[in-house]
Formats: sequence, structure tokens, C-alpha cells
Amino acid sequence: MTTTDQTTDREQVPAPASARPSTPVRVSRLGYVAFETPDVERLTHYYTNVLGFALVHNSPGQAFLTTGGDHHSIVINRAEAAGGRSVVGYEIREDLDAAHRRLQAAGLRAERRSDIGPGTPDALVLTEPATGATLHLYEDQDPSGVSPTFDHRPSKLGHVAAYTPSLGDMRSFYEGALGFRWADSISDFFVFLRCNADHHAANFMQSNELRGLHHIAYEARDLNHLQLMIDNLTKHGHTLYWGPGRHAVGHNIFTYHKDPDGNSIELFTQLDVMLDEEQGYYEPRPWHERFPMYPTTWEADAAAMNMWGPVPHGGPIKR
Ligand SMILES: [Fe+2]
Repeated sequence: MTTTDQTTDREQVPAPASARPSTPVRVSRLGYVAFETPDVERLTHYYTNVLGFALVHNSPGQAFLTTGGDHHSIVINRAEAAGGRSVVGYEIREDLDAAHRRLQAAGLRAERRSDIGPGTPDALVLTEPATGATLHLYEDQDPSGVSPTFDHRPSKLGHVAAYTPSLGDMRSFYEGALGFRWADSISDFFVFLRCNADHHAANFMQSNELRGLHHIAYEARDLNHLQLMIDNLTKHGHTLYWGPGRHAVGHNIFTYHKDPDGNSIELFTQLDVMLDEEQGYYEPRPWHERFPMYPTTWEADAAAMNMWGPVPHGGPIKR
């Protein structure tokens, strides 16, 4: 009902994985995101007490927090101004020497580092085009040693969305160098990219005015877990500014609120998954607009934003 093309979905089907050209690296998972804040203690308190993350490591001006097995999912750094997504860490399950050589052969500058911080003793460090954000590519993190919980802690870091002045540069880098696959678009200004079965791990919005983080999203196991998380939010004074609703793009049930620094935080569940890249469509769900549900380009209308109805005053998309 809200895609730009109602009759030729199959023309938008991506080539089978086996037919795609190989890329210098193939990211398999979003690992962590770094935030800057003038008040490390306040943001750490939010992540531990409000969202239920485990504090794994802290030192003056810095904190590392996790949702589970990974050494960290979030890094908090002291800075004069608040900001999000200065660093993004991605897991690549491949030999770093070989990955380094392939990146260099593709004309991409990357530096092998062993001093970027605890938990990731060996990484390739490169710069994201257009935004200048730092990317870490690592084979694996040290285990956190944190015991699993079944309380309000998110099940994982789900995705991170950022503004970019050049959507084309970002797509060619993420798809051509890092091995991401196109998941969906909204019109010509918002693109969603996946690196594994999850509908998206990275999404980018074209903006000539805005920079940095658009939002970051943490996954709930199911609706009951999402309710637990939201009840805990409100107990700590963080009310929702949008949701719950269901996005058409990715079909996740979403909620949005602000962290103490004003960053937009999404808590979600039921994100689409693509279990078979060769088939190229998302695992069928009863709320899908069609079958099969292939990656597609959506119109920028209210139904794409929220199938259940309400959108915030002025619209959820700012650019
Ligand atoms: Fe999101």
C-alpha cells in the first residue's frame, strides 16, 4: 500500500548471494557504538539502571557496557558536547590480515591496531566516508563474563541510524566494501542495510543540515519484554515520545524515547528477518503487505512510518 512500485516487486529482488561480487570484507554483526557526553556518570546510570545494561569496565571519563556475551555493546566517552555514533564496531568473521590486504587493494585505508581499548585487542580501524565516523572491524570481542538476565535488559544492540550528507557514498561503501545488502529504502533519502538475517543493522538518512546520530535501537525479546522495559523507563521518568506502533519498513514494533543527553533511543521487537539470502525475501508474517515481501522502496507517507496510525506532530523524519 505504500511502496512506490505495486506491480514489479520482482524487479527489485537483489541478486542471489552467490551471484553478487565479492567485497573486501563482509560484516556479520553490529558490535558496539560509542557515545560522547559531558556527564559520563549520568549516561552510565541511564544505561545501567534504566536500560539494565551491565557495566563491564570503567575508568575516569569512560565506561563500557554490555547487553550480554560481547565485552561491550556501548562505549561512553567524556567530551565537551553530547553526541552519538562517533565509533561503530562491526564483527567480521574473517582473518584480519587478509581483510586488511583486501581493503588496501580496494583503495581503502585501514590501520591495524591493538590499543583501541579493552575487549577488542585486535582490530582494523578505518574512517567512514561522508560522516568521518571511526569504524572498528574485529574478528571477535573478549567475552564479558556477564551472566544472562531475564529482566528489562535488552536482548541486544539492534541497529544504529545516522545522518549523512551523501547517501550514495554511504551505500557504495557499505555495500561495495563492507558487504552489506540493501534491505529497503524510503523514497530517495533513507536507506536500510543488513549484514545478517536481521532486516537492518545500519540505516542512513540523507541530510544537508543534520549530522551524527539519528537514533540507536535495542531489541526486546517479545512484547512482554518490551512492556517490562517501558514500565521501567517510565518509573525512571523517561516517557515515550512516539509509539508503540509498527513500522512498515522492517515491520518492527517500535517505541522511541530520549536518553538524558537527548539522543533518540528505540526499543523494538519483531523486526523482519531474511533467513534465506538466495530466496531474497523476508520471512513471511501476517502483517506484511504482500507475499513474498522483497526489499522495496517505500513512499515517505504516514503508513510507512507507522502501520498502526499515529505519527508525531511534524512527522518523525527530520532532515
Ligand atoms: Fe530504528
